[in-house]
Amino acid sequence: MQSATGYRIVKLANGAHSVHSLAHHETFHPVVGPVVEAEALYVRQLGLVERLQRHAGEFVLWDVGLGAAANAITALRATREVPCAIHLLSFDHTLDPLAFALQHREALGYLGGYETHLEGLLHDRHCVFQDGPQTVRWDTHLADFPALLTEPAAQKLAKPHVIMFDAFSPATNPAMWTLPLFSNLFRLLDPERPCALPTYSRSTMLRVTLLLAGFHVGVGHATGEKEETTIAANTPALITEPLDRRWLQRAHRSTSAEPLWEPVYRQASLSPASWEKLQQHPQFRC
Ligand SMILES: C[S@@+](CC[C@H](N)C(=O)[O-])C[C@H]1O[C@@H](n2cnc3c(N)ncnc32)[C@H](O)[C@@H]1O
Repeated sequence: MQSATGYRIVKLANGAHSVHSLAHHETFHPVVGPVVEAEALYVRQLGLVERLQRHAGEFVLWDVGLGAAANAITALRATREVPCAIHLLSFDHTLDPLAFALQHREALGYLGGYETHLEGLLHDRHCVFQDGPQTVRWDTHLADFPALLTEPAAQKLAKPHVIMFDAFSPATNPAMWTLPLFSNLFRLLDPERPCALPTYSRSTMLRVTLLLAGFHVGVGHATGEKEETTIAANTPALITEPLDRRWLQRAHRSTSAEPLWEPVYRQASLSPASWEKLQQHPQFRC
């Protein structure tokens, strides 16, 4: 199904449908589809239901790369029976994929029951609703995410308990995977508020980037699409399988480990300065 908006619907091998960006030549959730991937990568890996059951007060969820809202809706739907207050902050530089998804709601399927809220989000960039025992406050921040993080206004954003990080791949979307971006993101976190950030990539370059930005980093769950992903956090308590010294030695030998310092994709071995800093990370000093 082709569209003039720059997106099209693709049918995956398992019968699920996903959105494909013509500009980036990438399908948002290319193998198992949006819902299965989001349930594995975020809902189950983060133990989101259990975490919300234990949580008092507002739970702040950052959704980086709102896109067609599959991650956001899957997280909300999975936790809708839990009495909780969720503050969802979605970030993207365009709402076009969301508008496109609403136009193709039947094929995508996962929007069911949330259409009115999503229309409100498109129209006002903000919506508030009650879904059974769950209260949702949902804001969208329409901006270039790396630039937004450098602005003073970013300091005023609600500090996240969880970040769903879902940009296009580093090769096509390098601006979303640089070390300056993740360093700025880490600095915005509240050190007193444990925060986990799972993402679909398991690349050495990404893991080095997250470590040098200040995160603790571990092996992330399989998603059906990837046999291994990555989870980062501002506390070791949220990492069940931390990267170890054997991984560190492999990173040292890798030809694709040096973080992107600029929004231009390239692959390079670790620089002496990065290798030095990596070895000093508290995760490897015990
Ligand atoms: C893989 S898609 C996200 C899919 C989405 N999470 C979902 O569940 O449907 C990546 C998203 O990142 C957004 N993006 C890419 N570069 C960005 C940037 N520099 N600033 C903000 N958003 C960006 C794209 O517009 C796109 O919607």
